Amino acid sequence: MTITRDGFAPPASEAVTRTVSLTIDGKTVSVPEGTTIWEAARDAGIDIPVLCHDERYDAVGVCRMCVVDTGGRVFAASCVRPCDPGMEVTTSTPELERSRAVLTELLTVDQPPREEDPKQTTTADNELISLADQYSVGAVEDLFAGPARGKDASNPVIAVDHDACILCDRCVRACDDIQGNDVIGRSGKGYSTRIAFDLNDPMGESSCVTCGECVAACPTGAITNKAINNIPIQPKEKLDAVDTVCPYCGVGCALTYYVDRERGGISFAEGRDQPGSQGRLCVKGRYGWDYAASTQRLTKPLIRVESSYPKGALSQDVKAESDRDVVRKGRGEGKGEGKGKGKGGRKPGGLVPYDEVMPHFREASWEEALDLIASRLKEIHTEGGPGTIAGFGSAKCSNEEAYLFQKLIRAGFGTNNVDHCTRLCHASSVAALFEGVGSGAVSTTYGDVANADVAIITGSNATANHPVASSFFKQARRNGTKIIYVDPRSGTVADHADIFAQLKPGTDVALYNGIMHEVIRLGLIDRDFIASRTSNYDELARTVEAYPPELAAQISGVPVETIREIARLWGEAKAGVIYWGMGISQHTTGTDNARCLIAMCSITGNVGRPGTGLHPLRGQNNVQGASDAGLIPMFYPNYQPATDTATREVFERAWGTSLSPENGLTVTEVIKSILDGGVRAMYMLGENPFLSDPNINKVRKALSQLEFLVVQDIFLTETAEFADVILPASSYLEKDGTYTNTDRRVQLGRKVFDPPGEARVDWEIVQEIARRIGLDWNYESPREIFDEMVPLMPDYANLDYDNLGAGGKLYPIEDPDLTDGTVVLFDERFNTDDGLAHLVPAEWLPAKELPSEEYPFVLNTGRLLQHWHTGSMTRRSFALDAIAPRAEVYMHPDDAAALGLAEGDLARVASRRGEIVLNVKVSHREVPGNVFIPFHFREAAANLLTIDEIDPTGKIPEFKFCAVKVAPELASGTAESNGVPVGASDSKGGV
Ligand code: SF4
Ligand code: SF4
Ligand code: FES
Repeated sequence: MTITRDGFAPPASEAVTRTVSLTIDGKTVSVPEGTTIWEAARDAGIDIPVLCHDERYDAVGVCRMCVVDTGGRVFAASCVRPCDPGMEVTTSTPELERSRAVLTELLTVDQPPREEDPKQTTTADNELISLADQYSVGAVEDLFAGPARGKDASNPVIAVDHDACILCDRCVRACDDIQGNDVIGRSGKGYSTRIAFDLNDPMGESSCVTCGECVAACPTGAITNKAINNIPIQPKEKLDAVDTVCPYCGVGCALTYYVDRERGGISFAEGRDQPGSQGRLCVKGRYGWDYAASTQRLTKPLIRVESSYPKGALSQDVKAESDRDVVRKGRGEGKGEGKGKGKGGRKPGGLVPYDEVMPHFREASWEEALDLIASRLKEIHTEGGPGTIAGFGSAKCSNEEAYLFQKLIRAGFGTNNVDHCTRLCHASSVAALFEGVGSGAVSTTYGDVANADVAIITGSNATANHPVASSFFKQARRNGTKIIYVDPRSGTVADHADIFAQLKPGTDVALYNGIMHEVIRLGLIDRDFIASRTSNYDELARTVEAYPPELAAQISGVPVETIREIARLWGEAKAGVIYWGMGISQHTTGTDNARCLIAMCSITGNVGRPGTGLHPLRGQNNVQGASDAGLIPMFYPNYQPATDTATREVFERAWGTSLSPENGLTVTEVIKSILDGGVRAMYMLGENPFLSDPNINKVRKALSQLEFLVVQDIFLTETAEFADVILPASSYLEKDGTYTNTDRRVQLGRKVFDPPGEARVDWEIVQEIARRIGLDWNYESPREIFDEMVPLMPDYANLDYDNLGAGGKLYPIEDPDLTDGTVVLFDERFNTDDGLAHLVPAEWLPAKELPSEEYPFVLNTGRLLQHWHTGSMTRRSFALDAIAPRAEVYMHPDDAAALGLAEGDLARVASRRGEIVLNVKVSHREVPGNVFIPFHFREAAANLLTIDEIDPTGKIPEFKFCAVKVAPELASGTAESNGVPVGASDSKGGV
């Protein structure tokens, strides 16, 4: 990889900045033109009190606390007043102090008594109270307080006390300028003025996304955090601060947990400064950490009892329809009857029913469980050979754990049958990037959007899936970057876009070919770049020649004018960047879709400079790192081909054993192989394919058919119901390790708590199994594993635990002590053998299962802001579950009306593979003929419906497109209690 620019700071401006000289309290200072007096004073070590000002936001100068004497007619607000040459500033005089004291007194009148103040009685850092102390302002009794403005407790984790609000507008700026959510404003006049959520709605009913940025901004007790899990919020000095990284998405926001050691819980979380996330968090990072303290954590190894063989699912709703009938008949139960709280035997909450599943397992000692695992795996391996064993690792685990897991499968069992959920999110993007630019990682960061004049965001509901990255996209637009949003759904990003191209699902290749056709026709290609940096342009040009905008419009549904407008904007951009999500990758044409994006950037020279490049937004917190570390069946660590002899010899030498020369099976291929009698035993670390893989009925059959299954997890998952042995693992909060985010930033995650009960750290468990199957492993810490990995991974060169620093480092990096790492890759050459970008033309192909008369709707699946994957963490988080408690099918109002469905009604959604029942969400964000179902909810598992056709290159399933029908479900109530067995059915025989 080549390096363009070290460090995260924007490129140094070539313009000469003028300076101005002035005196502040008699001290002469020189500052760049445009510096405010407050900033100049701060840099000179002089403190000026502020209230409405916070350096994170643009100054508005509404409170006048920061006034200084500049010799003018009136005092000047130093937070907004720029320095003038020769200015003489005095920051403290008796008159100024009196002005500040009076202001403090006036603001204090309406405040709650300090012993009841929501901020002072929790974090004890109310800035107004601290000013009152500074100016000796006590309780004000000779002034009348205004009429009460009320409290708002409608949000589950944020409390609003309007009486404590001083109208400083910090929350408004945090919401608008930082997060770009535009929810908070002001309402009312005069004394009754107060901050307002949307149209003065209760916060919990407004469009607020509970990112908590307003809480972080508010200087008083007006907006504060509520306690979660009965752990009181206390002053920071009384709590233990643990600097770590958010465990959810690939944005990898840095945060600090404030831990109450006495009560053994987290009191609250706060965003931490880091060059990427810059202190921002979304609802999951700020409020979604209490899952680890769930009483449902697994704390002892479990072994399936003899009477629970032959194997199969154990809970009512994980069983197939036919199994359930057998069970019901056996119990003398009729359809819709059963035991439990709901009429159909279902329990509210959408979690695995422990009372149904646990009796099928007995507790065991670690020795017994580990010995059993080793002996069964060895037995099957000896009998059937390496191909009988497969392992799924986890993108939630650390780099070190991913590295050890793939090493165990490869070195311990002689097979490359090791994969993880990257197969289900960006495998096709990685395949196209490898082929095109020789590297599967992003070529620039999400923050680099600030340097782009045009950014295309495509196939990504970024505000829900990568919320903090999306806040940078929105901020860039406010600063002049043109945003082009391309997606079949009108996600919230569309509200912030200059151009929204709402294409028909599965038509991306046609659309991008049409745009490229027009770019070429207008002569807006970068001929020098094409000539010197790419190959195969002529072939590409020939292919896109056949896609005039008119044809692209006809296929994609995007108007011709819009296609032309996008082409012109993109072609004329001095710096253009493309961010994409799973709407691009999760298709049987996913690799072709990504090939088009690579070509779009390459023919316009939009790679290798600030504000340009290619960025597939990675899903899980460590999917980039797990892939880097070799948790992929065709690559050793650092994407070194498993079939390459020289590479294999390197790893054979390093690991001291012979290795398989053949590529292993991918996640989707493993399922098929089990059914064909190939793979017979599996080690599943932190994966839950029962809910995450397509066509659940097929997965159910495969899992039942496995001779031996080890599941290592923190909760009883649906997949664990099929296990022979379940091992209690550690959550993210219970171990140290490194994690690599979507930007290639390698960061240290730090241990907050010990694992509960007898649960153990994952890398230790993997090592125990390795030792029992004959590997001589003696790692004592993740640091030691990292030190073994790095010499085998050229991209991670120069990194170690000690130089990652507080904010982590972007790989590749030459000197971690001096820089933050490399933002922009490929400034001079690509990572391919010949250093050129390989342009690969793609012809448009329709999706595999098109709508028909019987199945007229297109189903799109994806995530919600509040939930994560199969929900095992987020549905055990109080805040996240409270905000988004139930499964819903999102439908356009016209479609809903035509079917006689209204918001909240029950609908039965069926595909050729299965059916589910769930509530209707009427949504203007869908297009008619399309429905969207999030895949987190086991009680209405979207993957019962999805198709398991895969992209031929990336082997990723077509999660974004299959044909379904929708019909009203006559029973009323919620999907959990309607008496219908909603979890699984096999209407067309499954496989
Ligand atoms: S709620 Fe807090 S941050 Fe918002 S205007 Fe009031 S005092 Fe300022
Ligand atoms: S954007 Fe992603 S990493 Fe950041 S707080 Fe939200 S879930 Fe966590
Ligand atoms: S802090 Fe400057 S006007 Fe409020």
